[in-house]
Parts: sequence; C-alpha cells; structure tokens
Amino acid sequence: MDTTHYSGELTMTVGYIPLVDLAAQHAEIADELMPELNRVLSTASYVGGPDVAAFEEEYASYCGVSHCVGLASGTDAVELALRAVGVGPGDEVVIPANTFIATAEAVVRAGGHPVLADVEPDTLLLSAEQVARVVTSRTKAIIPVHLFGQIADMTSLAEVAAGAGVAIIEDGAQSQGATQHGRRSGSFGVVAATSFYPGKNLGAAGDAGAVTTNDPALAAAARLLGNHGSRVKYVHEGIGFNSRLDTVQAVVLRHKLRRLEAWNARRRVLAARYDELLADRGEVVLPATRPGNEHVWHLYVVQVDRRTEVLQHLHEAGIGAGIHYPYPLHLTPAFRHLGHTPGDFPVSESAAERILSLPLYPHLCDDQQDRVVEELTRAVDRSPVRI
Ligand SMILES: Cc1ncc(COP(=O)(O)O)c(C=O)c1O
Repeated sequence: MDTTHYSGELTMTVGYIPLVDLAAQHAEIADELMPELNRVLSTASYVGGPDVAAFEEEYASYCGVSHCVGLASGTDAVELALRAVGVGPGDEVVIPANTFIATAEAVVRAGGHPVLADVEPDTLLLSAEQVARVVTSRTKAIIPVHLFGQIADMTSLAEVAAGAGVAIIEDGAQSQGATQHGRRSGSFGVVAATSFYPGKNLGAAGDAGAVTTNDPALAAAARLLGNHGSRVKYVHEGIGFNSRLDTVQAVVLRHKLRRLEAWNARRRVLAARYDELLADRGEVVLPATRPGNEHVWHLYVVQVDRRTEVLQHLHEAGIGAGIHYPYPLHLTPAFRHLGHTPGDFPVSESAAERILSLPLYPHLCDDQQDRVVEELTRAVDRSPVRI
C-alpha cells in the first residue's frame, strides 16, 4: 500500500494538533470494519471464538513466532508471561528504571521483586551493562522494554541473560512491527508481552493485549492462567484470572493489523521529516536509533532544556505534545519502598526532566507537522530569562 497518500489526501490546516489521532485511524477503516462489528454483535459471540483464533494466528505469523495468546491487556500480558516462566515470591526481575509503570506492576502482581537498571543515554532503552551490575542469584528474568518503538540491544542482553541463566521476557507494548537485524519484536524473548491499548501502533477499541512465544508450553500456561485455570469448561486445574481477548477487539485488531506495515512506514516518513526539519536546532536533541533497528516510532521523543516552558508554549499553541514519562520508576510514589534516592539512575532521571513527545501518528499531515516544528522552534528560541 502506498502510504504517501496520507499527506496528500489529508493535507489541511486544522486547529488543535493532538499527540495521537485515533478518530482519523477509525475513519480510514470504518467502511470495512462496521459490517464486521455488526456481524459479531448480532451473532452474540463476544468472548473468544474463530475471530480471536484467527487474530492470534495472524499476529503470531506477523511476529514470526508459532504462538500468540490474546489477553485482556498489556499489563496482564506481562504478568502472565512472568507467571508462565515461573516467576513467583522471592524472585527478582530486572527492568528499566525508565518505563511505564505497568512493567513494574506486573512483576509485583506476579509476586516478584522489581530490580531497576538504568538505560542507555542515547536511546533511553535498557542498558545491558547496567543489567549485568544488578543480576544476582535470585534473578529469574530480565524484561527489556522496547520503549518508544525500537528494540533494546537484544544481542548484549541475551549474553547477560545466558551468562546468568535467566529468562528474557520482552515488553513490546510500544513496538509492534519493529525489527532488529530483520527480526521482529515479540520473537526475541522466551516469551513476549504486548499491549493493544488504543493508542499503540496496533491498537484495539478498548483494552487488549497478548503474549507471543515459540514455546508451546509457555503459550499453554498463559492461556490457562488467562482463562480461570481452565482448559475444559468448569474443570479448573489451578487458580487463574479472567483475562481473555474480546471478539470485538479481535475483529478490530485484524483490520488494523492489515494496515500496520503501511501505518508504521508513514510513521517512519514523519520521523525522518522531523529529523530533517529539526536538524539545525542544536537546542533540540533528536532521538537516536540503534544500529540494526527498524524503528516504528510509537513516540517521537526529543530532549530540550526548560521543558516545562517549552511544553506550556506548545499546549498554548494548540499542540498536544506529551511526556513519556515524567518520573522514573524509583521516584514514583508506588515504588518508593524499593528504597532508592535521586541520583541512583542518573540517565533515567535526566531524561525524565528533558524529554518531550511530539505528535506523530500515521494520519498526521505534513503541514500539521510543519506547525509543530514552527512552534517548537519558537518555544526553544524564547529567552530563558523571565523577569
Ligand atoms: C511499556 C508498556 N508496558 C506495558 C503496558 C501496559 O499495557 P496496557 O495498558 O494494555 O495494560 C504499556 C501500556 O501503556 C506500556 O507502554
């Protein structure tokens, strides 16, 4: 599919420029999706069924693995992946200090103990070097988070994991379609989790998630856990959860999966355009891509000084820029009990004060993007001294 038509057909000057435009995404697929949704609603097949099975097969094939298990959310997917691998009370799980809280929540919910490691200064992804420093005999798993749309350094992380004899579980919530040396996100770990939260590159019309794996035993364990510990109706082999993919969500995801490559390609065009338009702005530090990575730009994250003022200017100018995320995990109240203090993870801390996510989504028009660049330029040019 030719993705360049997005900027042609949709070129217009609109007022507010959101961080992400899900209504535009729906408008593109509405004609083909709505009859399908009518079919599901009128046949009253709401949980599981052939649509869910078809999506699981298609998504597994897309990721290049043999199994996909649809679940109710990405947070559940991380937790069930951990439980499937056998993480439980007393087990340490190494995660980046710079991630969305769900990665850490899932570790705690599985009964494990999150151990934080700092990230690489250029990509802000989990640093294998830092992981190696915190791995102990109690470590059971490492969770690289493919933050912002690109895959963490899986070669080095796999070496650390192999040396310690621990499992790698990917958190690919932000990286559907990303590759590293041609291999897809979701195919590196013994098991991988992903989120189909609406704003993700592949997003449902509500909460949804999945695990992917080449290991049939891990897939079966996740499926069992997500279905009340039951394979056969009313025969419960253990205590599980209610975490299944709704049929409606599977139908939405099947339609969007067919467009994911084109949508990711358009994201890459827009990211390259930001790179080019902002290249001469020394005050704006541009995001770096790891060698060997094909980025899918879930978020385009720059770094600036005086971030609060810059963000305020953008908001006043009608631009929905955001921050992902304003607090590293160790400075988040929910994880104060880990006992860390400011200065423990300097790269994550410095990034949290400087990062700024600019609007980037497949339906963003070139002239909207020009306006973002113009306003960002204006914001960073403003005198830092205010009397
Ligand atoms: C890195 C990361 N991990 C996990 C999750 C959790 O996914 P969900 O919101 O579907 O539970 C998210 C979602 O925002 C995420 O960004």
